[in-house]
Amino acid sequence: MEFEVIAKCKTTKARVSRMKLAHGVTMLPTFMPVATQAAIKGLTSQQMESLGVTLILNNTYHLNLRPGLDVLKTAGGAHRFQGWNRNLLTDSGGFQLVSLSKFTTITEEGALFASPFTGEPTMLTPEESISIQHTIGADIIMQLDDVVSSLTTGPRVEEAMERSVRWLDRCIAQHNKSGKKDSQNLFAIVQGGLNPHLRDRCLDMMVARKDGVAGYAIGGLSGGEEKGDIKQCADKLPDERPRYSMGIGFAEDLLVCVALGVDMADCVFPTRTARFGVALTHSGPLNLRLSKHTKDFGPIDDSCPCPTCKDKVSRAILHHTITHETAAAHAITMHNVVFQAQVMGRAREAIIAGTFPDYLQTFFAQYFGKAG
Ligand code: GUN
Ligand code: ZN
Repeated sequence: MEFEVIAKCKTTKARVSRMKLAHGVTMLPTFMPVATQAAIKGLTSQQMESLGVTLILNNTYHLNLRPGLDVLKTAGGAHRFQGWNRNLLTDSGGFQLVSLSKFTTITEEGALFASPFTGEPTMLTPEESISIQHTIGADIIMQLDDVVSSLTTGPRVEEAMERSVRWLDRCIAQHNKSGKKDSQNLFAIVQGGLNPHLRDRCLDMMVARKDGVAGYAIGGLSGGEEKGDIKQCADKLPDERPRYSMGIGFAEDLLVCVALGVDMADCVFPTRTARFGVALTHSGPLNLRLSKHTKDFGPIDDSCPCPTCKDKVSRAILHHTITHETAAAHAITMHNVVFQAQVMGRAREAIIAGTFPDYLQTFFAQYFGKAG
């Protein structure tokens, strides 16, 4: 990849970068919508592209189960399979194994789990995760990591952190011998739970492996923790590599992360909450299921450039249909994807213009000042 920092905020650690991958340029900081099963729920790839999104996320775990590698190989990779022409990132599967399956056992070799379809014991090793991600063909691929919940304490946190470093070495070795290094970029994932000493040791060990990775993710923190751990990681990670905080999606959290020097983030939140009838706006989230929207004939947001608002689809019709028509969920999903892109796009503009602190102040005053 080409990665170049083009502007830095003088007050915070925020920065704007240009990241060029095999499927085009993505300007950072950016928010990545999540298409778990090779489809953003409710949107086609063409719609996603037309909204200006240049980087989305798929999950190795889900794609490997369905449609499976045979279909993906025949299709020529996940880009072709889903008709997506822009950049794609795949998560390695470890996090999903732990969060979705009660029957996962972690050994040094890999993660042992029962296939949710056949019940058969299946082993996902670091080498295999990378090899599956090579078949999927994402522009950015993630190391297999040993993830524990941020509520876990004791020796298991240290074990998981150290194993994640050993698994990173196996992922780097697998990636280096693949011949895919020009088109696909491996990211390390910093672990260590909420223990600053463990995070620090993990950072030291992973930064020492800088030549083997194209970027760094900050893992194990997607549960709404304080952002001190993200600051600690962003401060120590090398300037010349993109930084990705995993599982962050509330607009207010995104902007705090950007101020700490984070370049990328992903979360199912904006698209999932859309399906529950919640539209994100600069004045805070708007729950369109509430009866106060029965005769609310304006759009979600007058000044929003999304197709839903530009077409003047009213809050009233969204309120009326959200419980029984998928079209309403699609319309709100488009709006929320554009909202997230706008929050990050305005951050980039402000960082370049030297007005990022003002932008933060204005955003927070409006977002928390008058909720919908
Ligand atoms: N998604 C959210 N947090 C994590 C994490 O720590 N590791 C991985 N692989 N994916 C995540
Ligand atoms: Zn809109």
